[in-house]
Formats: sequence, structure tokens, C-alpha cells
Amino acid sequence: MIEGLLANNRRWITEKNAENPSFFDTLAAGQAPKILWIGCADSRAPAEQLLGLQAGDLFVHRNVANRVDPQDPNCLSVIQYAIEVLKVEHIIICGHHKCGGVRAAYDRTPLHDPIATWIAPITALAETHTTELNAIADIDDRCDRLAELHALQQVQILQSLPFLKTARDRHQPLQLHALNYRIRSGKIVVLENS
Ligand code: CO
Repeated sequence: MIEGLLANNRRWITEKNAENPSFFDTLAAGQAPKILWIGCADSRAPAEQLLGLQAGDLFVHRNVANRVDPQDPNCLSVIQYAIEVLKVEHIIICGHHKCGGVRAAYDRTPLHDPIATWIAPITALAETHTTELNAIADIDDRCDRLAELHALQQVQILQSLPFLKTARDRHQPLQLHALNYRIRSGKIVVLENS
């Protein structure tokens, strides 16, 4: 299995060098991405591929159900580094339809920790939107809407982080975007820009 992956890697190197002989020299000189992408770990949501970007273009954090957790040092470290060192100009939270984490949270699927604790805030979010969600007849559509509400909520959480406030105080250009990736069509839509 690994042999096949390494063959892919060699092919990718050949392609990149053919497109741009200084591609790897540029990467080796350092990174200067303008965008932090926070997305779901779902294998169907590969950030660079969805956006037609390549190595060096995105700083990326992915976890189950694209959460921004103010208690998670992993997530916070990525955001801190992106804002304070890389000085990214955009932070994208991209949720997606057919998200297994969102569905498990909505269904209250019995799970063991740590994932049970990890997705619990999404169950809580669903409870605060019971009226809107219950008005959607189809359960898949209901969970797709919950994924959108969840992405919007993650932007609000992001806004409340100290790194964001400091960046705003410094007048550092920084736009936040809640996106949704519609996995049935591949289309990405904007839920909110702020
Ligand atoms: Co997901």
C-alpha cells in the first residue's frame, strides 16, 4: 500500500517541477499562507483540492466536525500561530453536509469518550435550535442545517478568542468566513462573512 503512495509522491514531484522548476525551492524558503482553514477531518473534505489550491497556500486545522474549542490546546495553537506569526488575513470555518460528527451529535449516538465529549456541544446547539430543526421534515436535511448552524457558531467562538481581540486592537486585517461544503455536488457556499 505504501509503495503505491510513494509512487504517487514521485509522480507529484515530477509534475510540480515540470510546472514550476522553483516550486520546492520556494516552499523550502518558508510559508506565507494568507488563509487559515478550519475544517472537518472527513476524508471527503480535502481543503486544498476543494479550492484548487496547492502546497503553501493554506494553513490547516481539521478535526471531527470542524470545532473551535476554546479548551483545546491543539486547535488554539493553530489559530494563535496563524494570527500572531503567519498573520493570515482570512480564517475559514468550513462545515459540510452529511457530517458524521454532526449526525452522531444530533442522534445522541452512544459513544465513548473522548469523542462523546468532543461532539456534545453540537447536541447542545441542536437543542437551542429545536424549533427551526423540527420544522425540517427530512432528517438528513435537518442535520445538514445543523452543520450550517454549527459552522456559524464556530465563527462566533472564534470571535471571542483573545488572539482575535488582540489582532483587532492592532488593526491587523482579518476576515472570518463561515462556509458550507455541499458534499452531494461539491459546491462550497458562503454562510457568513465577518
Ligand atoms: Co464532518
